[in-house]
Amino acid sequence: MLLLDAKTGHVTICELPSWLEGLDLARPLADAALPQDRQALLDAMAAVQHTSPVSVEVRLRAGSREVWVRASLARRQDGIALALQDVTAARHDARQWRELEAWLVTLGETLPFDFFILDREGRYLLQNPPSVKRVGTALGKRFSELGLPGDVQQLWGAGVERARAGELVREELTWLVDGSPRTFSHALSPVRDGDAVVGVLGVDIDITPLKESEAALRRSLGELEATQEALVRKKQLVALGEMAAIVAHEVRNPLGSISNVVTLLQRGMVSREEERELWQVIADETKRLDLLVANLLDFVRPVTLTLSPRPLEPLLERALQQTLWTEDASRRVKTTFEGTAPPVPLDAGQLELAFTNLFRNAVQAMKGDGSLHVRISTEEHLAQRWARVTIRDTGPGLPSEVQERMFEPFVTTRARGHGLGLAIVRKVVEQHHGEVSFESEAGRGTTCVVRLPMPT
Ligand SMILES: Nc1ncnc2c1ncn2[C@@H]1O[C@H](COP(=O)(O)OP(=O)(O)O)[C@@H](O)[C@H]1O
Ligand SMILES: [Mg+2]
Repeated sequence: MLLLDAKTGHVTICELPSWLEGLDLARPLADAALPQDRQALLDAMAAVQHTSPVSVEVRLRAGSREVWVRASLARRQDGIALALQDVTAARHDARQWRELEAWLVTLGETLPFDFFILDREGRYLLQNPPSVKRVGTALGKRFSELGLPGDVQQLWGAGVERARAGELVREELTWLVDGSPRTFSHALSPVRDGDAVVGVLGVDIDITPLKESEAALRRSLGELEATQEALVRKKQLVALGEMAAIVAHEVRNPLGSISNVVTLLQRGMVSREEERELWQVIADETKRLDLLVANLLDFVRPVTLTLSPRPLEPLLERALQQTLWTEDASRRVKTTFEGTAPPVPLDAGQLELAFTNLFRNAVQAMKGDGSLHVRISTEEHLAQRWARVTIRDTGPGLPSEVQERMFEPFVTTRARGHGLGLAIVRKVVEQHHGEVSFESEAGRGTTCVVRLPMPT
């Protein structure tokens, strides 16, 4: 409690509360008020002469602090009595609230979708312009008072109740806007103060365009799939046609030879010696046909491999010996074999078939004498450990015309080749999750590298 001299405004009696410590008591009290509040205090001191009591809120400087004070003035015989109350905290809160509200209003105005806040009773506390446009001015009203279509009102109302009970509500709602259905992503989020829900923040986004483009996208995806399927079928048919033509061609040659020979034999006008040669032709051509059928089957037959860890060396040795024997090349081709690798998951039958094809190509490429070098090693490549088999021959190198397409079926430069060897190799190696590649320099031979992944 302070007592002021009514004329000078000086403090005459003082029980200064601790939160006003540092207040300059030597000067009129109005001098301690901030300049913008000074007049308000003076006005209150004047007014109290006529009407008593008077109340005013002003900021006073107490020492280095500023304090919001509510002063209740009462006229007394001996001056003006002032009961003082510290309202700094309340003032601060109120300012924060005003600022927050300004933020929310500005935020709402910039949002391109409906945004609103409901108080703890479910009444509209704040509403942005898009929301006003959609449901009309709703401030102070509840959902049920907005005159929305019955089903929407029911759904919204149920959502609000759930949000008020503390649940985050997210749902898609479709309702008629200007006669046409529109879909909204409707979200209601409880605003909490401690454990209590003090309001609900709501957002409604019109996602009709999104829904429409999603449906359109799905439609075109469906169409695309159908087109793709048709294309694949067409490609398969074309491939099948090409293959049939090639196979027919491959079959016709030996069949032609056989038929000629048979005619000659039927006429019976050949010597014993010639007859033996003609029978040999039939045997050779039949073998060739047999090989074609075997290769074709190796290439087209779908096989499921059973991979189990095995060492590569014996398998490679076997394939190499087998090749030298069938090609009758052990005298003209010198072979060297070096290196080792830990066991690799493999299907022995299929991998032996692949390596036999690679060895056979190398041996066939070296027309006269030559050497074939096989090396097994391990390496790190593309963050994986691999067993690596390098096969180097001293043949003429890869013909430039097949380099790009050598793995494709029926690509061959050999008169009696079918062009299926490397197609089989690639298929088998890929089924082992491996890689196969070639390097060659004209006149200096060919190097083939097969990589097979090792277990980690
Ligand atoms: N080691 C090699 N040296 C030279 N050319 C090769 C070698 N391996 C493959 N080729 C070439 O690749 C072609 C395709 O080989 P492949 O698919 O096994 O069919 P084919 O052996 O029936 O011709 C061969 O015709 C040949 O031109
Ligand atoms: Mg071959």
